[in-house]
Amino acid sequence: MIRFSVNGRPRTFSGKEFTRLIDVLREEFGLTGTKEGCGEGECGACTVLVDGEPVNSCLVPVFQMDGRKVETVESLGGPERLDPLQEAFAACGGSQCGICTPGMLMTATAFKKKGGTADRESIRKCLAGNLCRCTGYQHIVDSVAAAVAPVSKKRKKR
Ligand code: FES
Ligand code: FES
Repeated sequence: MIRFSVNGRPRTFSGKEFTRLIDVLREEFGLTGTKEGCGEGECGACTVLVDGEPVNSCLVPVFQMDGRKVETVESLGGPERLDPLQEAFAACGGSQCGICTPGMLMTATAFKKKGGTADRESIRKCLAGNLCRCTGYQHIVDSVAAAVAPVSKKRKKR
């Protein structure tokens, strides 16, 4: 049996150990916020955090989660109380069809937790593994920039 934490809640899975993490999250635990795009590790739509690091859940067999901490987009907030990143995506037009949005949010969450700033180049670099076919990326970058720490004046001058 595989034991791990999902969004702060202890979970177990006793099915096939090579089941993909995304399938366990969506089909066993009902956490359908995590989306599948390519299913091949290319698009980042399925990104969740594992021990704080962004991971493509379509590529990871669930047995690798034993003893680890998984966070999905459901950990951020809901309609009654949005996370600042979710608010920024709504306000800045960072989400259109929404398929890429959960993955973008989780990658941006890790970026923010690690002290990422509103420096556009850093944001683009951190989101490089997350593809979007709708927004042209500018609104996504704007959204993340609006939700993270401003670039310090010292850094801006460089
Ligand atoms: Fe996992 Fe595209 S669905 S990377
Ligand atoms: Fe549609 Fe990004 S909002 S793929």
